[in-house]
Amino acid sequence: MTQITKMTVAIPQIKATSFLTVADLSSEELVQVLDYAAHLKALRKAGTPHPLLQRKAVAMYFEKPSNRTRVSFEVGIFDLGAHPFMLRKEEINLGVRETIADTARTLSRYVDGIMIRTFAQKDVEELAEWATVPVINGLTDEHHPCQILADLQSMRESFGPDLKGRKLVFVGDGNNMAHSLLEGGALMGMDVTIACPASHQPLPAIVDKVKTMAAQTGSTIEISDDLEKAAEGASVLYTDVWASMGQESEKAEREKAFTRFQVNAELLARSESDAIVLHCLPAHRGEEITADTFEKYADIIFNQAENRLHAQKAIMAVLMG
Ligand code: CP
Ligand code: NVA
Repeated sequence: MTQITKMTVAIPQIKATSFLTVADLSSEELVQVLDYAAHLKALRKAGTPHPLLQRKAVAMYFEKPSNRTRVSFEVGIFDLGAHPFMLRKEEINLGVRETIADTARTLSRYVDGIMIRTFAQKDVEELAEWATVPVINGLTDEHHPCQILADLQSMRESFGPDLKGRKLVFVGDGNNMAHSLLEGGALMGMDVTIACPASHQPLPAIVDKVKTMAAQTGSTIEISDDLEKAAEGASVLYTDVWASMGQESEKAEREKAFTRFQVNAELLARSESDAIVLHCLPAHRGEEITADTFEKYADIIFNQAENRLHAQKAIMAVLMG
């Protein structure tokens, strides 16, 4: 039996008290969280109980739909011996029924952690500012940090723990996924290219911040609409929907802008021979990815979805354990 299946691995310590963006972690902390996620995955596969949050309670609040985030958090919280429960928009109505500060201070009197999926990053920041328990960002318009933990865990499973120098290419919209992948890739020392139309680039403020991070880890950051060139040398081709949750009315206009920005066999032929395809899901076949490419990499993509469970358990244990 390897060391990884023993319960003695210490929970990593991090400086941050909440997890709102990937950049809340240092490079070293991120690696430790990912190592811990691998440990928790091995424990679960071995059937070894790991009730690290016994008798705690974790609230989950969603203002957008979810399959993976909802289910992986609920199962993960249960796995850790804590009590998960959902708060609906009709119940909390964040920032409308009462101030965000009052919601934060009230919930902090009952629960040990709050997971939130909403629109504005600033609302999650305000919640975390007033809460006295950890807040975990389960997706905003700007960031999706939990997804990136699972993505990096998946990349390490394919390429080994050291991702330094590997090229990660995100194809599509300069959205929440692009922002969080930029941060995660830079912290891991990866070379990250966002291949997107000039009209849909990531937010300049985030790109600037990530370039500073990249200078410290020796990674490179590129934003380009030259998709074919971007794919050259790629170890990971990553894509996401063209229209995110909340952008449904822009669907037709976005379909036009993104037609070229698709992960398919031709693009893969330009990347490294051992390249993998990742997708945060949900997937729209025939849009950001072809059906045949999706199915070819389905095992990797659904393992990536599974890793949400392990990675989020790790960050919850770190923040609330
Ligand atoms: N990838 C992801 O966050 O999926 P859900 O929207 O289903 O939670
Ligand atoms: N960009 C997508 C990610 C879904 C996990 C969205 O925000 O809808």
